[in-house]
Amino acid sequence: MAKLWGGRFSADMDALMKQLNDSIRFDIRLWEADIRGSIAYAGALAGAGIITRREAAQLVKGLRAVQAEFAAGAFVVQPGDEDIHTAVERRLKEIVGDVAGKLHTGRSRNDQVATDMRLFCRQAIAYLNGLIAQLQGALLGQAQARVSTVMPGYTHLQRAQPITFAHWCLAYFWMLARDCERLSDCDRRAGVMPLGSGALAGNPFAIDRAALAAALGFESVSQNSLDAVSDRDFVAELLFDCALLGVHLSRLAEDLVIYSSAEFGFVTFSDAYATGSSLMPQKKNPDAVELARGKSGRLVGNLVSVLTMLKGLPMTYDKDMQEDKEPLFDSLDTLTLTLPVVAGAISTLRVNPDRMWAALDPAMLATDVAEYLARRGVPFREAHHLAGRAVALAESKGARLDELSDADWQSLSPHFGPDIRSVFDFARSVASRDVAGGTSPRAIRQQIVQARAWLRKAGRRSR
Ligand code: ARG
Repeated sequence: MAKLWGGRFSADMDALMKQLNDSIRFDIRLWEADIRGSIAYAGALAGAGIITRREAAQLVKGLRAVQAEFAAGAFVVQPGDEDIHTAVERRLKEIVGDVAGKLHTGRSRNDQVATDMRLFCRQAIAYLNGLIAQLQGALLGQAQARVSTVMPGYTHLQRAQPITFAHWCLAYFWMLARDCERLSDCDRRAGVMPLGSGALAGNPFAIDRAALAAALGFESVSQNSLDAVSDRDFVAELLFDCALLGVHLSRLAEDLVIYSSAEFGFVTFSDAYATGSSLMPQKKNPDAVELARGKSGRLVGNLVSVLTMLKGLPMTYDKDMQEDKEPLFDSLDTLTLTLPVVAGAISTLRVNPDRMWAALDPAMLATDVAEYLARRGVPFREAHHLAGRAVALAESKGARLDELSDADWQSLSPHFGPDIRSVFDFARSVASRDVAGGTSPRAIRQQIVQARAWLRKAGRRSR
């Protein structure tokens, strides 16, 4: 078939130029969105009286046949198929004949591809949100089982204060909740329909854009045809959301790499999510989460790639924008694989409470010592100083903080009574952080209720 735009050309395209120009290799995965858009557009053309109802029915029937070929994996790409839009139109013409040539009336590939991309992104967002919810479910499952499992909490990767493992799990739950919310927010902006913008100046055939939007599940129509065909903000946003999600997975992964090391031993990965070494027979490596950590690099890279591509593009559509697809698809593919693997690694993770307990050090209760004084009216700054002196005294004696004698405590401050010993109880320390959002088992049970409610609501939103 002749090229869509062949009329003014007399010479063939250079072979390498054609390779560079063709996007069918990667945009073929827009087939579903492209055909959906075309079916709706055929209806709009008939509604505007540009084609007859019969012609529209022929087009729709043909488009459904093409759709069936794609769905069955039977669609054969021809050498002349430049991109998904030309491929579908070429095949449509083979099936329904010349009437196929009417489908493109008033439509440009510029508003077509912008529409396809939005439809595609919206579907991808719904799918990603489902995968994130699975990972959140895995974290919630671990949290539920570990409400009172005490472990060291860290700042600067130095032992800081005792926390519970459930609290650690739920920290990542809420991080991922924000990722879902960001994606849903991106979906709102992706839900504006560009179709009807033509190449750039708008459609001249009085098509009913509102009806078209409703048919395609868009919430509204774009207000400016120039902006509509040149806007890829939603791609950049989605890539940002993917990148930040990747950064979150990477942080979760890093914690688990550390916690699964022999030195920590807090957790053990299931064999299903670890690999061995070809040289060192004893090795069990946390590859699942290492790869999650490593993949965050390409997720960030894909965002930078698209932002850089968009920067400085003149109004309106520019062919540069064809470069939005591979980074987007790569980020989505990366997360489609990584999220379920991380979810599996979490849900099958063995927790070793004894190792967590053994890593606790009474010095981690120095804050509690200061709080003991603060409860007795000592200004916190002074209390902090006195607790620090207690740590130094214990160190100078080569003793642990909880091994100081009554006389030692008294020598530091008359406010220290014999009941200072009750402070040296990790479970008590944890239980005392009982505010909303705190690490006490009671507060965590409430947090779990909130987390479950969040998941239920998210599930409803996605339906
Ligand atoms: N394959 C193109 C893309 O992905 C479709 C739009 C082509 N439009 C054009 N005027 N050449 O951006």
